[in-house]
Amino acid sequence: MLAWYDRHARTLPWRISPAERAVGVVPDPYRVWLSEIMLQQTTVQAVKSYFDSFVHRWPTVTDLAAADTEDVMKAWAGLGYYSRARNLKACAEAVARDHGGRFPDTEDGLRALPGIGPYTAAAISAIAFDRKAAVVDGNIERVFTRLFEIDTPLPSAKPEIRAAVDRATPADRPGDFAQALMDLGATICTPKRPACALCPIDAHCLARASGRQEQFPVKPAK
Ligand code: ADE
Repeated sequence: MLAWYDRHARTLPWRISPAERAVGVVPDPYRVWLSEIMLQQTTVQAVKSYFDSFVHRWPTVTDLAAADTEDVMKAWAGLGYYSRARNLKACAEAVARDHGGRFPDTEDGLRALPGIGPYTAAAISAIAFDRKAAVVDGNIERVFTRLFEIDTPLPSAKPEIRAAVDRATPADRPGDFAQALMDLGATICTPKRPACALCPIDAHCLARASGRQEQFPVKPAK
């Protein structure tokens, strides 16, 4: 997955490119956090321009903490789910006030902040701090239920999926591993007509072997 990610990762404004990583550039937790909050209920395509304008206007979490709330709400307009913007501002203020402008580097520390739930805490700790955390979003659920033909319906399957993701996550580059799975789910292991011929792990996939890809994940009975 990591080798595939190095060649095929989507280029996104909050990511470190392979060339940057090669010269020792490390992720900025502020940018990782901001992107993850924006991506909670909004598509990658829609988030890009908002992300760029936020980091241009407020380059650090301390700048965002000091911003006028009205300006932040206006800049957020169009992204929807405005409680995210209010929590964003409250979180920036908490990081500036209580943590000296540095994000906590553990899942527990991150979860104590406004607007950061279990998924976002795992994603930030893995992507920004290289901590081994099981990151599980909808894309990753689809990839793993297909790989192992997990036929428990969602949401009951979640603990089983989490355990499988936890076992698969490497100690080396866990954040890139999570982002590789996100990209695989978004571009290859799609809900309909997945492009299995292009998949780097198709030889390991039970659903590919049985031709039952589109039957996973199993939806709850209505
Ligand atoms: N969705 C949520 N987090 C993401 C990330 N880091 N890259 C791509 N899509 C995402």
